Amino acid sequence: MADDIYPVPAEWARDALVDAAGHADQYRSSLDRADAYWLEQAGRLDWVTPPTRACESSFDEADFAIRWFGDGVLNVSANCLDRHLAERADAIALIWEPDDPAEAPRIFTYAELHAEVCRFANVLKQAGARRGDRITLYLPMIPEAAFAMLACARIGAIHSIVFGGFSPDALAGRITDCDSTIVVTADEGRRGGKRVPLKANVDAALDQSFSVKKVIVLRATGGAVPFDPARDIWYDEAAAKVSADCAPEPMNAEDPLFILYTSGSTGKPKGVLHTTGGYLLWASLTHQFVFDYRPGEVFWCSADIGWVTGHSYIVYGPLANGATTLMFEGVPTWPDASRVWRIVERHRVATLFTAPTLLRSLMKEGDDAVLVADRASLRLLGTVGEPINPEAWRWYHDVVGEGRCPIVDTWWQTETGGAMITPLPGAIDLKPGSATKPFFGVEPQIVDADGKILEGATEGNLVIARSWPGQMRTVWGDHERFFQTYFSTYRGKYFTGDGCRRDEDGYYWITGRVDDVINVSGHRMGTAEVESALVLHPKVAEAAVVGFPHDIKGQGIYAYVTLNAGEESSEPLRKELRDWVRTEIGPIATPDAIQFAPGLPKTRSGKIMRRILRKIAEGDVSSLGDTSTLADPSVVDDLVANRN
Ligand code: WTA
Repeated sequence: MADDIYPVPAEWARDALVDAAGHADQYRSSLDRADAYWLEQAGRLDWVTPPTRACESSFDEADFAIRWFGDGVLNVSANCLDRHLAERADAIALIWEPDDPAEAPRIFTYAELHAEVCRFANVLKQAGARRGDRITLYLPMIPEAAFAMLACARIGAIHSIVFGGFSPDALAGRITDCDSTIVVTADEGRRGGKRVPLKANVDAALDQSFSVKKVIVLRATGGAVPFDPARDIWYDEAAAKVSADCAPEPMNAEDPLFILYTSGSTGKPKGVLHTTGGYLLWASLTHQFVFDYRPGEVFWCSADIGWVTGHSYIVYGPLANGATTLMFEGVPTWPDASRVWRIVERHRVATLFTAPTLLRSLMKEGDDAVLVADRASLRLLGTVGEPINPEAWRWYHDVVGEGRCPIVDTWWQTETGGAMITPLPGAIDLKPGSATKPFFGVEPQIVDADGKILEGATEGNLVIARSWPGQMRTVWGDHERFFQTYFSTYRGKYFTGDGCRRDEDGYYWITGRVDDVINVSGHRMGTAEVESALVLHPKVAEAAVVGFPHDIKGQGIYAYVTLNAGEESSEPLRKELRDWVRTEIGPIATPDAIQFAPGLPKTRSGKIMRRILRKIAEGDVSSLGDTSTLADPSVVDDLVANRN
């Protein structure tokens, strides 16, 4: 079947920052004369001491290291704020759209944002924060979340944002893992008219993690919350007493900027560490070129700041580029299915960057919900987080974008810092469902199970053959795990965990995870995490979790549960287990289906055969493959008979 091709529109080919010839040139240059190319690119940042060295990385075990711009000195918040003040002090840096559309947006110029961040930095210092300390942010989508991130960067503290939808247990684990000494939170969050008990969750988390000395509490809703005067600090009271001057701390390019926990195929979530120079360069460069960003345009990334997409494309990339970034507190379907498009209209959004799962859920509400809002300001559309099905792609293109706006389907990961395989809208013809071509400096390869490089049109596992500036540097506190997770499967290469096809035109098509990570509504979830939560329940003996195709979420969570001897399966217990997982991890981990199973299919060495469980969850029971190596092949018949 011939792929659909959407050629670069004529005006984009003419006016875009990068056209097809420019793309080819720069891509070649970024690989052939990499060090010189990257030192030139580093010039887009404002350095205290400019670097004289670019890449000093090796993926080999003997001299394993990821290092960029190692002798450069800079400060991220100075790059995102101070350097814009000379010419863009009154330009709008941040537009905040509140949960309730009847309330007024809050708008901050670069000068105002600078003052807010300095003040926040002084409050952190007063609470005892020092360079290198870890500070956990557990916040709603309010402007103060961006202030807090930049304030940490300003004083050289390392932020670790924990998504506000995570439970107290999940929060506690992430606080303890990096020994945070300060938590920044709010009294409550608001989402779709409902309250989220953030402060209460922090209190519960701190019953089980003991490194925290101070909790800074923002007054977001004004709701009554417990307050411990010995430990807790009201932000507004502290901020009223500090100055709005705070000199940025000069940081080495390789000093840590943030930790962000993400799910892997095994064990507990990993603290992905990003550093100062390379990360900021990658966020800034990709934001400008992937989105063809022009000063004055409103850029809206709809992710939560609790995910990497929010870090790179709400805060660091746009602000490094002097852009106007929009932050939305609420949910896209509240008060009704037109909310997203009303926001586009209200703030004259030029670029919308969102997740396929959101598009699928809005698509089913019908076109009228879109058409009621004026979308003439839109120039470019983007997606991230999971493969986009061509049907949703076409709806986004034809209905949302009125056929005018190219779509940049950006493939990347928490680990990569920013976009890696992505269209450039003025340079690359689009194919719905394909992330298209590698960005500058990115050298993807497709390998088979043995690591053999596959050439031409092919399918296999996606690896990246050389280091790029935005690459994560380590797993917090476990460098060995970093090497083992990403560099030991295919020697000398970074393994992404994704499957990928390359077509005859050299376009890349991500086919989904090949490990035990599932992608639920664009959120990464380790099957092992959900399993650990289930087996903590007193009635559960064993659990196995797999993903299955889900119309809206992309993948849903299917859990097989074996109860302890003497326990009876029942509907109330099923509900209890779902609620249990919600409480243990958070609503995003709630199983969509739970099947009670007297036994799980295991090999004679005791390994669960997930391949079989996946097939049954998918409803594909006719091709279960060879089950003869199972310790007890008869369990499969029971599983098939009692499928949900
Ligand atoms: C998946 C999100 C297909 C992929 C930035 C990856 C995608 C995981 C795409 C990372 C895309 C992300 N097409 N799949 N455009 N973008 N993915 O760490 O499986 O939350 O490995 O980072 O999402 O998820 P993460």
